[in-house]
Amino acid sequence: MRSTTKKHSPFRPRIDDCECTPSVQHIFRRHYLIQSPMYYIRWIYAVLYSLYLLFFLRAPTDSDIVGYIENTTMAMLIRRAADGKTGEYEVTVSDCKLRASGGYSLKNMSLRYKAGRNGVQILNFTRNGVEVGNRSEMFSTVYFYHIHSMHTKSHLFSNSLVRHIVDNDVKTLQESSYTSIPLHYVLLHSSLSVLMWDGNMSRYLGYGNACIRESILEESRNMSALEGHRAEHRWNLHGKNTFAGKLFRSRQALQSVMERHDIDPKLLDALFNHTIVHSVDHHGISEWSFLRFSLHPWDKDCSLYQAFNTSVFRVLITQPNLNPLAPNTISSINKPFYQDLYRELRKIDPKMADVVTASVMY
Ligand SMILES: *[C@@H]1O[C@H](CO)[C@@H](O)[C@H](O)[C@H]1NC(C)=O
Ligand SMILES: *[C@@H]1O[C@H](CO)[C@@H](O)[C@H](O)[C@H]1NC(C)=O
Ligand SMILES: *[C@@H]1O[C@H](CO)[C@@H](O)[C@H](O)[C@H]1NC(C)=O
Ligand SMILES: *[C@@H]1O[C@H](CO)[C@@H](O)[C@H](O)[C@H]1NC(C)=O
Ligand SMILES: *[C@@H]1O[C@H](CO)[C@@H](O)[C@H](O)[C@H]1NC(C)=O
Ligand SMILES: *[C@@H]1O[C@H](CO)[C@@H](O)[C@H](O)[C@H]1NC(C)=O
Ligand SMILES: *[C@@H]1O[C@H](CO)[C@@H](O)[C@H](O)[C@H]1NC(C)=O
Ligand SMILES: *[C@@H]1O[C@H](CO)[C@@H](O)[C@H](O)[C@H]1NC(C)=O
Repeated sequence: MRSTTKKHSPFRPRIDDCECTPSVQHIFRRHYLIQSPMYYIRWIYAVLYSLYLLFFLRAPTDSDIVGYIENTTMAMLIRRAADGKTGEYEVTVSDCKLRASGGYSLKNMSLRYKAGRNGVQILNFTRNGVEVGNRSEMFSTVYFYHIHSMHTKSHLFSNSLVRHIVDNDVKTLQESSYTSIPLHYVLLHSSLSVLMWDGNMSRYLGYGNACIRESILEESRNMSALEGHRAEHRWNLHGKNTFAGKLFRSRQALQSVMERHDIDPKLLDALFNHTIVHSVDHHGISEWSFLRFSLHPWDKDCSLYQAFNTSVFRVLITQPNLNPLAPNTISSINKPFYQDLYRELRKIDPKMADVVTASVMY
């Protein structure tokens, strides 16, 4: 049972609160100097690497689709099948606000799958009430929803958390103020954004995405899809060593490390999303770099150019992209709070602990 006295976080889930106000000017300067050049360097790498990848891309299978869902924040949406069949699970999304170019909207989707000794099998997938059988379209739809709705939710508390750190001069968490606000500013307001604004987008070689920016903002205002996901029994559906189980244990680890270092417990969920959830979600996505699908869920075929587009987007935007001289991973920060957190996370999963960054960096 969820307690009715649950404390509300003082932070507002607003990704568009990313203006360069005087108190955060130094963070913008740091971002433009240290983090944003990485995108130009990485772009060249993304183009070359994607050309090479074109020879190896393959169509997604059932286990790719389910594996993707189980190893990213999409896992929070997994439920046991409503009719209680053992080994059958469902992922249901309703009232989605996301829109794609060409006048398409993703209103709802539902996936049912079976996981057992003989591997996984997708039983049914519907999108806007219509059955979709093509695995590339399925993967593309799940990917579209995940990166623009679920993953975006891990960014939502970052702006107000950073403003809190700066305004109150919380020295212990200084590294957690880097890059997030300017990154959101570029994503939402600059012509270099990878997202479409009113259907307009700057097109560069293999760059850009199919989702409309306003629809991401609209979708981000509705957090109710996540309501109840904090309740423990939701996590218990997953094993201790699944992605979701590890996330839950990391949250507990963060909580106890915060206690030891006298950090206001009100910051817990915002800090959890901002550091751990965001970076391990990116890490989870990048395990699926070899699949051939279009970024636009309604594309009828995936041309070579479209497969190239998808690959550039994945290498440039969804794979972790850090400045090696200033990576801001918690393992690289020589301060007691981050080192302590790193040690605790290593006990849960050493590989995961290595990718966690102190703030939303990419
Ligand atoms: C798939 O789900 C839809 C809607 O939930 C239902 O109408 C359809 O019969 C299902 N198809 C199969 C093969 O189970
Ligand atoms: C999903 O969306 C379609 C298209 O808007 C609608 O007809 C259908 O009723 C919706 N299904 C659910 C379960 O919300
Ligand atoms: C982010 O934080 C909110 C509020 O604490 C929480 O409900 C949500 O599950 C978190 N988001 C993700 C993607 O973990
Ligand atoms: C998008 O393009 C249309 C027509 O080209 C233009 O009128 C509109 O102002 C543009 N919108 C933005 C946000 O740039
Ligand atoms: C990707 O490739 C298509 C051609 O298939 C091209 O028209 C488009 O501009 C590229 N970018 C996006 C976001 O689709
Ligand atoms: C928010 O999303 C939930 C389901 O995820 C839906 O039931 C509700 O109607 C939505 N609210 C608004 C205001 O769109
Ligand atoms: C994804 O998660 C499942 C279950 O949590 C696990 O068995 C599987 O190995 C993972 N797949 C990858 C590619 O990491
Ligand atoms: C499935 O869709 C992809 C494009 O999304 C297309 O290239 C492929 O040919 C389709 N496969 C089948 C079996 O229809």
